[in-house]
Amino acid sequence: MKFDLTDKKKPSWDRRQISVWKYRELLPVEDRESIISLAEGGTGLHKCRRLGRKLGLKKLYVKNEGENPTGSFKDRGMTVAISKAKELGKKKVLCASTGNTAASLAAYSARAGMDCIVLVPKGKVAGGKMLQVTMHGAKIIQVKGDFDQAFVTALELTKRSRELYLMNSLNPYRIEGQKTLAFEITDQLDSKTPDTVILPVGNGGNISAAWKGFTEFEQLSIAKTRPRMIGIQAEKASPIAKAVKRGEDKIRPVHNPETIATAIRIGSPVNWPKVLKAIRESKGTAETVTDSEILQAQRDLATLEGIFVEPASAASIAGLKKLRASRRVDPSETIVCVTTGHGLKDPSILDRLPKSQPGYNLEITDRTSLDNLERVL
Ligand SMILES: Cc1ncc(COP(=O)(O)O)c(C=O)c1O
Repeated sequence: MKFDLTDKKKPSWDRRQISVWKYRELLPVEDRESIISLAEGGTGLHKCRRLGRKLGLKKLYVKNEGENPTGSFKDRGMTVAISKAKELGKKKVLCASTGNTAASLAAYSARAGMDCIVLVPKGKVAGGKMLQVTMHGAKIIQVKGDFDQAFVTALELTKRSRELYLMNSLNPYRIEGQKTLAFEITDQLDSKTPDTVILPVGNGGNISAAWKGFTEFEQLSIAKTRPRMIGIQAEKASPIAKAVKRGEDKIRPVHNPETIATAIRIGSPVNWPKVLKAIRESKGTAETVTDSEILQAQRDLATLEGIFVEPASAASIAGLKKLRASRRVDPSETIVCVTTGHGLKDPSILDRLPKSQPGYNLEITDRTSLDNLERVL
């Protein structure tokens, strides 16, 4: 049975295991038989004491979305959108993607027995994501240019063929699934809303969805407050952060966006109005980070907390570091950084590690004696 938010009465879901479908009364799928699931959601909210100490924070948490079945937060939206597609009788799904949406759609459409087409910017998708898409049997169209060009092509294709069902974050069912991120964070903190939530921003679907989730929990009186939402973008792909900094109501698209964090290499984000609204309504902000700040944050999280995330995800940590340095985050705040995708998605980072990285420069040759080896351990 669907749930009416105006009822202000919480559904009785407390005994259900934490997952996207725990909150099914707040999701737009009517027929339970249509649900296509790979056990998404229920990701860890990890208290990060060592990283927190380094940043001068007592209550720092990482919500690690890389723990989802295909290794990114996209699975939350995809399980709902593909289930809805099944309910609507769709047979052929399509998306433009910087990689993770494609990997997720390829997996869920395979499970649903649907045909899948993905459009990706040629040569700009991390290796692990290309492997996933190929493995799940999707048709891959490589588009010359960046994500924005791939997206325009996907829109054109869906206009021409009624058979094709678009699964980008413009699809409202994706956002509905992704809002469960906020539900889980609140549940994992025993219904206490964090003060601040920090997310990497590309197209802006995730931060808008999370804001929707926090708002719904407040409407239902499950939570008393909503957090401050902070979006982090890569310096050379940051139209939203720049608009926030300039105090402008519109973004100025970035041509030829560039960053090592390929997942957020987007110059013309479609969800920008919703992102600006979420940031302003929540009294939040936005910040930019450089590629080297991203790479440093990725290593900090991996070495101090054992959490390995892809570069785009590390943008949230890099952003937090910058916000702390400029005292825009208080030491006593409860902060949740959302890390959006698993580190194994992008093995190319190995080439970018400093050669002084522990464990990098040990080599055994025939003539290495145990004495020599012992000296460097
Ligand atoms: C790992 C990762 N982080 C962040 C983002 C940005 O999410 P959004 O486009 O919803 O802002 C993406 C989008 O592809 C992603 O794959």
